Amino acid sequence: MDLLAFIFILGFVTSKLACSNANRTPNSFNVLDYGAIGNNHTDDSNALLKAWNAACSSPVGTPKVIVPRNYAFLVNPVLFHGPCKARNIDFVVSGIILAPNSPKVWNGCDASQWLAFRGITGLNVYGAGTIDGRGKDWWDQSCRHHPDLKGCIKLAPTALKFLSCNKSRVRDVHFINSPQTHVLIMRCNGLHVSNVTIQSPGYSPNTDGIHIQSSHHLTIDDAKIGSGDDCVSIGDYTSDLQITNVECGPGHGISIGSLGKGGNFVRVENIQVSNAFFKGTTNGARIKTWQVGKGYVRKVSFQNLKFDSVKNPLIIDQNYCNVRGQCKELETGVQVSDVVYKGLLGTSSTAVAINVNCSPAMPCTGISMESITLTAADAGKRVVASCGNARGIETAVLPRPCLRS
Ligand SMILES: *[C@@H]1O[C@H](CO)[C@@H](O)[C@H](O)[C@H]1NC(C)=O
Ligand SMILES: *[C@@H]1O[C@H](CO)[C@@H](O)[C@H](O)[C@H]1NC(C)=O
Ligand SMILES: *[C@@H]1O[C@H](CO)[C@@H](O)[C@H](O)[C@H]1NC(C)=O
Repeated sequence: MDLLAFIFILGFVTSKLACSNANRTPNSFNVLDYGAIGNNHTDDSNALLKAWNAACSSPVGTPKVIVPRNYAFLVNPVLFHGPCKARNIDFVVSGIILAPNSPKVWNGCDASQWLAFRGITGLNVYGAGTIDGRGKDWWDQSCRHHPDLKGCIKLAPTALKFLSCNKSRVRDVHFINSPQTHVLIMRCNGLHVSNVTIQSPGYSPNTDGIHIQSSHHLTIDDAKIGSGDDCVSIGDYTSDLQITNVECGPGHGISIGSLGKGGNFVRVENIQVSNAFFKGTTNGARIKTWQVGKGYVRKVSFQNLKFDSVKNPLIIDQNYCNVRGQCKELETGVQVSDVVYKGLLGTSSTAVAINVNCSPAMPCTGISMESITLTAADAGKRVVASCGNARGIETAVLPRPCLRS
């Protein structure tokens, strides 16, 4: 064999050896290979971004970014943006992703976000890992809790945002202690959230579990959510949303709204909530609209809900305004129609178990209540139903009467 051929073969063999790194399966982008340390205090943001960019530029198969287990990665605010080359891309969270533990890190950055995915189709975020927002320092300075504190904080980061996504999934991940909303879904078309858990204390301010805005064709199932605000809240331009098998508590319930805050034309329709359990929450099934709003919320159903000691198990408040209890009558309002409540069972911790407060200018229509039994959480107490400007039918409802036909 001549020398050239020998060098050729040698080169071939060594390149084979270099590629046989056991941790590196093809198309898999482990953040440790991009310089992440995962020791809970070194800034690993760049490593995560590099791994993301490499995966996102890979055109073949389904590239996978891997955040491995047994490591805790400290990550500053980062944006993972698309579009990506492959049809689908996986982001596997098996380890812990930790937020910086001081709001100061956000100086000069967008305080509304920590982790965000933007402009991606076929994104699949999964894994038994944890996204830890370490919100305590933010909560301690929040204007909600400390209105008199100089420089108190109104806007704190959402732990994970999905912005402009198509046909994507999130499953199995744990979210804890976000500074504000845990998961925000905005301008997405087709997103399936399943088997996620979200946990922050009941006293943590504005820590919605999942907030949805301007999005369509979404499913949320098998979620366990406890937080200091709505477990799920549904914003102004949302349609075709199914929520099923959700445990909520502590928290403010599953809320459609508040809608129309800016006096805008709301469009919310085809929202189905079923098989939800509310434990010790302030609300159960809630629809909340601002008087200044316009537009509609229609074709909504709440079915098979259970309540354990909930303040407002069933509530519509169409008269929401800035100063609670001092709303002036306006001619505007968001029209609420075709809302079905069926199979609601459990206990109310206040006297008004059913509270439907619609406006004279824009009465609620097509409300249907069927098979509802709500009793007092305190044995011996009585509960009542209260309806204003609401039309519809009720069958087998306790307490009653409420709706006008
Ligand atoms: C990270 O370190 C802090 C102390 O520096 C410790 O309290 C915390 O438990 C650690 N978290 C993880 C996930 O290792
Ligand atoms: C999502 O789908 C819409 C409609 O098909 C398209 O216009 C948009 O570019 C897609 N967005 C992404 C991020 O691929
Ligand atoms: C739900 O997620 C957890 C990890 O967070 C996992 O262990 C469990 O198997 C998942 N359940 C299902 C039904 O996928």
